[in-house]
Amino acid sequence: MAAESGKSWVLAVTAQTPTNIAVIKYWGKRDEELILPINDSISVTLDPDHLCTTTSVAVSPAFTHDRMWLNGKEVSLSGGRYQNCLRELRSRASDVEDEQKGIKITKKDWEKLHVHIVSYNNFPTAAGLASSAAGLACLVFSLAKLMNVKDDHSRLSAIARQGSGSACRSLYGGFVKWIMGKEENGSDSIAVQLADEKHWDDLVIIIAVVSSRQKETSSTSGMRETVETSMLIEHRAKEVVPKRIVKMEEAIKNRDFPAFARLTCADSNQFHAVCLDTSPPIFYMNDTSHRIISCVEKWNRSEGTPQVAYTFDAGPNAVLISHNRKAAALLLQRLLFYFPPQADADLNSYVIGDKTILQDAGIQNMKDIDTLTPPPEVKDNTQTQKYRGDVSYFICTRPGRGPVVLTDESRSLINPETGLPK
Ligand code: ADE
Repeated sequence: MAAESGKSWVLAVTAQTPTNIAVIKYWGKRDEELILPINDSISVTLDPDHLCTTTSVAVSPAFTHDRMWLNGKEVSLSGGRYQNCLRELRSRASDVEDEQKGIKITKKDWEKLHVHIVSYNNFPTAAGLASSAAGLACLVFSLAKLMNVKDDHSRLSAIARQGSGSACRSLYGGFVKWIMGKEENGSDSIAVQLADEKHWDDLVIIIAVVSSRQKETSSTSGMRETVETSMLIEHRAKEVVPKRIVKMEEAIKNRDFPAFARLTCADSNQFHAVCLDTSPPIFYMNDTSHRIISCVEKWNRSEGTPQVAYTFDAGPNAVLISHNRKAAALLLQRLLFYFPPQADADLNSYVIGDKTILQDAGIQNMKDIDTLTPPPEVKDNTQTQKYRGDVSYFICTRPGRGPVVLTDESRSLINPETGLPK
C-alpha cells in the first residue's frame, strides 16, 4: 500500500455511463435481495452526450470510511444495494501499481482501503429518466477500473444489477438484452449486447418530460405489489415476453422498424396494463401520456406503417423512437403543435439535446411554434386542442455508446490532492 515517499496519496478514475430505455420491459422480481427478474428484457442505450452519469472514484490510505456525493450533496452509502456492489467489487479487486506515483496496492489491501465516490447526472435526477440505471452502472464500472477488477462487462453487469436492476443494461451501448437467468445465486442473470450503436444509427429518440404533480409509486414497491396481486403478470412473464424477446431480437437484427415499433408499443401498453391489474392499481401514465399515445397512433395509422414507437416507464414521460431524421422532424412538429411551451419559456431550454432535429422541423423561434398547422391526419376540430405547459421539455437524442473511462484529468470530479469533491 506504500507510496515510496511515505506521504499519503490519492488514486482516482473517472468514467461516464449512459442511461437506457427498455423496449421489452422488466417488471417483477423472483428474488428481491439479488434483484433477479421474472422475464428477460431488451433496451436501447441512449446517447451519453445527452443523458449520462459521470462518476469519479478515488482511493487513499487517508480515507477513513467509504463516502459518496451525488449531484453536489453527500449521500449515505449504508443502503444494502450500494453495500452489495461494494462488497462484490472488493472481493474481485486485483493488484494495482502506479509507478509514476510510486503506489502499490495489493489484492488484500482493498479489504481495508476506503473509497470516495463523486457522481453527477447530466439530467434532472427527479425527472424520472432512469438515473439510477446510469448511476449504479457508472459506480460499478468506475470502481471496477480503479480496483483492477478483471471481469468482462457481462460479469460486471451482474454486480450492477444488484445495485439497480436496469443498471445491468447500461454496461453496453446500442441494443442490450438482460437475460433473466435460472441460477438461484443470480450468476447467470446478466446483460449481453445484441448490437452496437452503429448497427441502427438512423433511429432518433425524442423524450417528452411530462410535468407531474402526482407522487409516483416507486418501481421497487410497484413491481412487488404487481407480483403479489396481478393475475396477468404470470401470463405476461411466461407466455408473452419469451415470444416477444425472440421477435424483438429479430427486428433489431434486421433493422425492421415496423416490427420493432409494434413490439415496443405493445410491450409498453402491456406493462401499464399489469400495473392497472395490480391491487390497488398503479397509474404511471397521465392524461398527457395518453394524448401523446393518441397522437402517435393516429399518425402511424394514417401513414399505413409505423413512423414512431412509444414507450413509457414507471412515470408519465414518453420515450418516442422515430424511424429516421425525417420522421423525427415530423414528430417534433406534431409534439410542439399539441404541447407548446409556456409563453415565457425559451426555445433553447424547451428542446434540448440534438438541436438539428429542431432545424429539420423548420423551427427557429417561438413564433414558428405558434404558426404550426394541425397535422394532416387530424380532421375534426376536437383534436386540435392545445395543451400548453403540459410537457416540461423535450430531449432529442439517439442510440448511444456504452461506458467509457475519461482519461482527461480536467474531467475528474475529485480533487487529486484532497480526495474530496472539486
Ligand atoms: N441514483 C441516481 N443517480 C445516481 C448516481 N449518479 N449514482 C448513484 N446512484 C444514483
